[in-house]
Amino acid sequence: METESGRGYSPDTMAEWGDKGLGLSAGPGGDHGRICVIANREPYIHVRNEGRIDLMTPASGLVTALEPIARTSGGLWIAHGGGSADRETSNERGVLSVPPNDPKYELKRVWLTPDEEQGYYYGFANEGLWPLFHIVHTRPIFRALDWSYYLQANEKFAAAFNEEVGEQRPVVLIQDYHFAPLPRMIRRYRPDAAISLFWHIPWSSPDTTRICPWKNELIEGMLSADLLGFQTQYHCNNFLECVDRFVEARIDRESISVTRQGHTCYIRPLPISIEWPTRYEVPPETIPDIRRDLLSELELPPDIRLGVGVDRIDYTKGIVERFLAIETMLDNHPDMAGNFTLIQIGAPSRSRIPRYQQLTEEVMQVANRINAKFAGARCKPITLRLTHHGPEQVFRFYRAADVCVVNSLHDGMNLVAKEYVASRSDGGGALVLSSFTGAARELTDAFVVNPYDIEGTAEAIFGALHSPATVLHERMARMRAIVSSHSVFEWGRELLEQTIRYSGQRAIPGEVTAAYGTA
Ligand code: F6P
Repeated sequence: METESGRGYSPDTMAEWGDKGLGLSAGPGGDHGRICVIANREPYIHVRNEGRIDLMTPASGLVTALEPIARTSGGLWIAHGGGSADRETSNERGVLSVPPNDPKYELKRVWLTPDEEQGYYYGFANEGLWPLFHIVHTRPIFRALDWSYYLQANEKFAAAFNEEVGEQRPVVLIQDYHFAPLPRMIRRYRPDAAISLFWHIPWSSPDTTRICPWKNELIEGMLSADLLGFQTQYHCNNFLECVDRFVEARIDRESISVTRQGHTCYIRPLPISIEWPTRYEVPPETIPDIRRDLLSELELPPDIRLGVGVDRIDYTKGIVERFLAIETMLDNHPDMAGNFTLIQIGAPSRSRIPRYQQLTEEVMQVANRINAKFAGARCKPITLRLTHHGPEQVFRFYRAADVCVVNSLHDGMNLVAKEYVASRSDGGGALVLSSFTGAARELTDAFVVNPYDIEGTAEAIFGALHSPATVLHERMARMRAIVSSHSVFEWGRELLEQTIRYSGQRAIPGEVTAAYGTA
């Protein structure tokens, strides 16, 4: 299939990308071993459901982004095995080949105890670091016990890595705030490894970051990587300021690197992206077909305008603010009532954490209140679907929608915005996008809003729904050109090439081992 970027999407191209398209065996890094992705979330979860085993793909932008890289590089993905049938579907080392129906790479599942999962994932990562780095007025909670489980779980991932990785020099791509100490721990096992850590969420200024009692340890652990990637230059600058304030290290502003105990780590903005073209295109189905079928499935009138929101239920995503903006739009433009619905897909997330339970309640209450207010109209303003949807389903909603609303209060990137653009191969649709997302730096043809400004967001949604089709097509074409020319393949290639290049610049084993100390 030919794409707008001119790059084909054939098995040959993928193989080429995986072998030499990345240029991984050339350059100062020399020969490399397996490419190993370490991310907390697994790309395939096995769940026991009334006696049968279901295979699920989690609702995570990160999985959408990294899966294609794992497939094309044929390497290894190490993740927490969190599904109720994960053990019985993997071998004695927790390993299985995936995708299960068409194996392309290996998944190794790490088993965490309930206490470890609670302290490392729910506690330190998601009640501490998540609110710390997303500045949305939810107070971070830092508990010493969570911190110790966070370290313990990171140790387990380092040991799992060491168990699977072969003799050759490994290339490791670590994902996100779950793993700040991991580069240092991996380095202890394999001083020769080429290591990158990609920080998918924002990084805050020193004034915010200093709240964390273990900020120094976090930063020092991260600096054992060869490359630290952030979504934007702004996040890189914040990180460097934190290094300056909190740890003993030498910052080189010219090469944008930090040297600590003889090891140099390079800091780079590397905005993440998505697969292009998408695998979820259904060519024979036209947009009018999809719209007609979806509206009839949802028992909605066939001629209404459709908005879509797709999120994990998370307080950073601005879901309540989005509903209030819809209410305001209908108040300000009463003829829209009965002629518009926002389909909100909300994947349940982190539901053991009280703040997430409160938010789920609030989302339902606000939707019910607004729907009751417009009860006389022929359709509800908000169609709420609080359940997991697979990517194929999500893409049908994207393609049917006149407007996609992404009004996160703060977001590292927000891959939903890019997925929506990728889904619109017909050139239609409009994107309303928060200025506080990483995606807003690239997708300047979106209708950009301040998500805290409810009136402004309401008018932007109204404007997107009432702009001339030619204007919308031009805007969408420009956004598609941007996403297609910087897909997750370009992102992955840049990240891995730089990791190998920078790791090749340093002396290997023995000489520097002592410098990494213990975590
Ligand atoms: O987008 C940031 C992120 O934390 C990803 O790392 C993660 O995959 C996603 O959100 C979903 O969160 P969780 O894995 O906690 O469900």
